[in-house]
Amino acid sequence: MVEAGPVLEWFEANARDLPWRRTRDPWAILVSELMLQQTQVSRVVDRLPRFLRRFPGPPVCAGAPLAAVIDEWSGLGYNRRAVSLHRAAACMVAEHDGRVPDGLAQLLALPGVGPYTARAVRVFAFGLDDAVVDTNVARILARTQGRSLKPAEAQRAADAMVPAGSGWHWNQALLDVGATLCRPGTEPDCGRCPCRTACQWALAGCPKPDPAVGSAGVSGGQSTFVGSDRQGRGRLVRTLRGGPVAVSDASAAMGWSDDPRRTERVLATLIADGLVALEDGVLALPA
Ligand code: ADE
Repeated sequence: MVEAGPVLEWFEANARDLPWRRTRDPWAILVSELMLQQTQVSRVVDRLPRFLRRFPGPPVCAGAPLAAVIDEWSGLGYNRRAVSLHRAAACMVAEHDGRVPDGLAQLLALPGVGPYTARAVRVFAFGLDDAVVDTNVARILARTQGRSLKPAEAQRAADAMVPAGSGWHWNQALLDVGATLCRPGTEPDCGRCPCRTACQWALAGCPKPDPAVGSAGVSGGQSTFVGSDRQGRGRLVRTLRGGPVAVSDASAAMGWSDDPRRTERVLATLIADGLVALEDGVLALPA
């Protein structure tokens, strides 16, 4: 069992100074955690303040056109998250008085909010003693237990570790241990890790295979962007930020002038995701 003391002491001395750690505002926490799921920390540090200035809470976000939220999300990637956030803001206005709720079930009912984000809001905004399991924490859990875990096992193991009353510090500490020491692949820095004396994998000499690979919640990394459908989706959304485009020009905007079938297939996913609207042969960001 990983001991809380050394982990909390390590965090005290080594915590990264990140903007979302200086606020307990539930909306700011929700937005930052949604951004952090698929975008690197440095980019979120750059972009979060601007987003929060433009959309300081659920009512302003819900009242803005979806196109404005997609516009402000640009450069963060995975634009579908902007659509979910806009819908979640509308739910909060309709059902929670325009505020971010603190109940797990209420949070999980919001569009785009899964088990990680729901608990992150409860812990980092409301100070509750839940356990967040993202890819970093999931890697620590698998390695310290020396075996691959199923999703429910990983959440149970994480829940059992939270020291009462220290949920905020404990969870931030594990995120930092995972991001800076217990790194993926062949680069863990076990020598400085506060979990090393309780880590089955480190105690065994970090044998192959790494138990984190394929364990619940451990991501396999993002797929290659160049040449991907995601790249074409991003190009079209970027073009539409500048104004509407005839559907006949979509192929060129997506960089696939020679591949109308791919254009049609990927355009259909953008429309289904609510990111692009098609009316009378013209494509636009949704109002
Ligand atoms: N990644 C996801 N959430 C984070 C947080 N609160 N701090 C640092 N990295 C994170």
